[in-house]
Amino acid sequence: MSNYTALKTAIITAIQAANDLGSLEQVRVAELGKKGKLAEVMSSLGKMAPDERKAVGAELNVIKSEINEAFAARKAALEQEALAQKLAAEKIDITLSPRPENMGRVHPIPQVIDEVIAIFANQGFVVAEGPDVDTDWHNFTALNIPESHPARQMHDTFYLKALDDKGAPLLLRTHTSTVQSRVMLNQKPPLRVLAPGRTFRSDSDQTHTPMFHQIEGFVVDKTTHFGHLKGCLIDFVRAFFEMPDVPVRFRPSFFPFTEPSAEMDIGCSRKDGGLKIGAGDSWLEILGCGMIHPAVLKNCGIDPNEYQGFAFGMGVERLAMLKYGIPDLRSFFGGDTRWLNHYGFSAHDVPSVPTGLSR
Ligand code: PHE
Repeated sequence: MSNYTALKTAIITAIQAANDLGSLEQVRVAELGKKGKLAEVMSSLGKMAPDERKAVGAELNVIKSEINEAFAARKAALEQEALAQKLAAEKIDITLSPRPENMGRVHPIPQVIDEVIAIFANQGFVVAEGPDVDTDWHNFTALNIPESHPARQMHDTFYLKALDDKGAPLLLRTHTSTVQSRVMLNQKPPLRVLAPGRTFRSDSDQTHTPMFHQIEGFVVDKTTHFGHLKGCLIDFVRAFFEMPDVPVRFRPSFFPFTEPSAEMDIGCSRKDGGLKIGAGDSWLEILGCGMIHPAVLKNCGIDPNEYQGFAFGMGVERLAMLKYGIPDLRSFFGGDTRWLNHYGFSAHDVPSVPTGLSR
């Protein structure tokens, strides 16, 4: 082995022995730098006879490039290791317990949804969800809404450019009744389902926002009748408003997907521009309901000669405004933390019927 080869081996061994970037840098200065061993050997070339210089020079060039390669490879490996260590050390532990004072407030919409779920869960309902973007079939056709129904017109419904597999434009659902057909097609009765979610209509003024929330409920069974609908909803409003004697009335109404259809009102009094729920001389509409139309059951693969059911749908913002005295619909979506601090709820107060629905 020539002296040069021994030198190369020694330098490469030192490079590989460096176990962090700092010691690798020390090796570079000592061995490869201007005053390093390699430079020393290179400078000795000048004193050699031309022939020897040529041969040794060529050998040294090969050695030098091998050393440089070894150095670059070691450097890349150590940099990779340092990065991995840094990433591991900087990992955020999200399991740290939260500081209650920093938890923020629960918005009235999820709060009211949780309250309604708590009440209907006590009556044996389960929660189901459907997509915000849905088909024309789920939103209208399945629900016995004919082509000519005004709800289909562009000014109400947000249609999307994308088409469904029948070639009809997809849409943003205009009500949570879409979940009726979605559940009925996939589950066998008896059914007791509650479906909260976002809904969309192309309408925007002081009392309408293009996005709002509804809660749909429906029951399908062999002997379900209008008396069940009334009992279920009367129990609901009394529990929700935490007022056991709130007066209620059912008014005949029309929905294409229920027959007969009704709207439910609760008693209230209006004085000096204010509104008080409970006994009084005024009525306030709070939800739509009815017996599920046989055509809807049939469209969803349920035999209307064997099964019948009822359905209801209510607006979450309206329930929240009435129960908590929130005067302005649009403030729900303003993202104002002062509003949220005022009307929001503590994250610790999870609504439940036995322990109380709200603070
Ligand atoms: N989907 C109706 C609406 O948005 C409400 C409703 C649901 C009425 C179920 C009857 C039965 O107005």
